[in-house]
Amino acid sequence: MKTLLVTGGCGFIGSNFVRLLCASGAWRVVNLDKLTYAGNLENLSGIVQEHHRFVKGDIADRSLVDRLLEEEKPWAIVNFAAESHVDRSILDSSPFLQTNIAGVQTLLESVRRYPVDRFLHISTDEVYGDKVGQEPADEKSPLIPSSPYAASKAAADLLCLSYRRTYGLPILITRSSNNYGPYQFPEKLIPLMIRNAMSGMKLPVYGDGMQMRDWLYVDDNCRAILAVLENGTPGSVYNIGTETERSNLEVVQSICQILSEIAGPDVETLKHTIESVVDRPGHDRRYAISTAKLRTEIDWAPTVSFDTGLSKTVRWYLQNEDWVARVTSGEYRKYYESVYVQAWGQSA
Ligand code: NAD
Ligand code: DAU
Repeated sequence: MKTLLVTGGCGFIGSNFVRLLCASGAWRVVNLDKLTYAGNLENLSGIVQEHHRFVKGDIADRSLVDRLLEEEKPWAIVNFAAESHVDRSILDSSPFLQTNIAGVQTLLESVRRYPVDRFLHISTDEVYGDKVGQEPADEKSPLIPSSPYAASKAAADLLCLSYRRTYGLPILITRSSNNYGPYQFPEKLIPLMIRNAMSGMKLPVYGDGMQMRDWLYVDDNCRAILAVLENGTPGSVYNIGTETERSNLEVVQSICQILSEIAGPDVETLKHTIESVVDRPGHDRRYAISTAKLRTEIDWAPTVSFDTGLSKTVRWYLQNEDWVARVTSGEYRKYYESVYVQAWGQSA
């Protein structure tokens, strides 16, 4: 059984990845997570505990990371830990620079001292910037990030690649499109809309709602990440996505349709709660990536259609209303006010 150090394994994608690994029986997972507002041990309920060691801590804590690598001698590291929400990076970029750049630099320095066979850094299609009117980005496309979040992720990618060239570290990078599925924090589009609709609140679409995104069901991303970890070529970057595009408005309308079918409210009444609100500053109109490299080199393809994935997701949120209520109590309300009531008021 191989040991993996997974960072950020209590967040959305990280917890789905840890669940996949623990279920396979082939992996032991050491999970380093700071438990920020987005991290929650409850996200790992039901996993086989003897295959999982949780360590509460910060990836930017050099002595802790050194100690873990020395003690556990993991075969590989998969770094999910990050501040992940674009809107929060617009309100305050400081934690993004600290975790997403300084944290990654700390991990890389520790790996120089305590080598591993693979260092897989989880990045994003947002590093390529706005692709409106352009060909989809491949892995060699320039990095032109728009938000402080995306800039911090691009900086981390470049740092990782520099440690590959300078010190020969076994770096792999995945850049995926927008994920959705169970355990996503309800600040992101899909769970926010489901929560608001369930609570009889308005459905706040930024600007005209015609921004295009490629939605990837989280299980498909986790399978791709594992495949890249096992079969990717060190030094390489892999885009992950479905190569399909939908406008935000279409996505919100689909949520209304599915909620109506499952839970009974009238679909037209739900759609009337869709409201255009002040746009996200610097909002990218379109993300688009080519996944040809992953499909040919790693033989991966998505398996969950958007309709199936969205329906599973809506059902999960309906069945987990307590989880939604717990993670959105407290700090979430203040955050929600800043964006949706004060219309980015605290970003000035
Ligand atoms: P998330 O916000 O749900 O979870 C982040 C996790 O990292 C949380 O458990 C949090 O407690 C932990 N964390 C934050 N700072 C930390 C620190 N300093 N030390 C240790 N742990 C820390 O994020 P997510 O949506 O699951 O995203 C995971 C990764 O995937 C991120 O790197 C993100 O940039 C990337 N990504 C996300 C998406 C998406 O659609 N969600 C798409 C592409 C890439
Ligand atoms: O593309 C990958 C990225 O996807 C990841 O790197 C990020 O970590 C992840 O958060 C996500 O970023 P986005 O900004 O694309 O996701 P978000 O769910 O915040 O928004 C999706 C789209 O919906 C975006 O165009 C903004 C819009 N939106 C979002 C919210 C929260 C709205 O119109 N209204 C909203 O209330």
